[in-house]
Amino acid sequence: MSDYRRVSAFFYGMVAGVYDTLDRLLFRDPERSPRAALARRVPDAGLSVLDVCSGTGAGALEIARRCPSDRALGIDLSEGMLSVAERGAAAAGLRNASFRKADATAVDLPDASFDVVATSLSLHELPPDARAAALREMRRLVVEGGRLLVVEWERPSRGFARGFFSVFPGMLERRGFHEFLDLDWGAFLADYRFELEAVERCAWTKLIIARAR
Ligand SMILES: C[S@@+](CC[C@H](N)C(=O)[O-])C[C@H]1O[C@@H](n2cnc3c(N)ncnc32)[C@H](O)[C@@H]1O
Repeated sequence: MSDYRRVSAFFYGMVAGVYDTLDRLLFRDPERSPRAALARRVPDAGLSVLDVCSGTGAGALEIARRCPSDRALGIDLSEGMLSVAERGAAAAGLRNASFRKADATAVDLPDASFDVVATSLSLHELPPDARAAALREMRRLVVEGGRLLVVEWERPSRGFARGFFSVFPGMLERRGFHEFLDLDWGAFLADYRFELEAVERCAWTKLIIARAR
């Protein structure tokens, strides 16, 4: 396991128990929550959905809740985060959500296994080589014409929130975090054969919607 993975697994093992509290605080308005926005973009049509770097499963669980005929699989490296996700699925009685340990850069699943691939608040955290490998894997795992949904941080446009954001979460993030926020998503995703369709603004974040081509 490379240094980045060791540090990441250690960090998320430590914060797994409090992660969802922070999540609820940041995304408490259901109208603007990126979790709800993500799930709204997934049709309830018997689809298979992969949530990459799923953490405590916020994205996968919301999809499973809103789309009862779909099946959502969340993968992550942190056992601590995955056990919170599994407890969340059990507590909510969601039998269409499951979680397993897997590395986003080398997923042991066949090509074109999913109709939709999603990842939230994760790409900015990966070193560039791991980010590229994860995107190649997402493209490999989704069917032709399938959908990619990415939630990433977005700088608030003004006021206290903008000042707060310039310190946190940047304080905790790797170098290049603020540059990553300014990414040209159309050009970036085209390198991985995804075509950008839309960007939706959510609380503290944006939802990027693209199609595999
Ligand atoms: C900021 S958390 C985001 C969790 C969740 N997607 C969310 O929106 O709350 C980033 C997650 O990426 C996971 N992660 C980092 N590198 C990974 C890798 N190579 N493969 C799988 N998961 C990874 C971490 O364990 C952590 O749970």
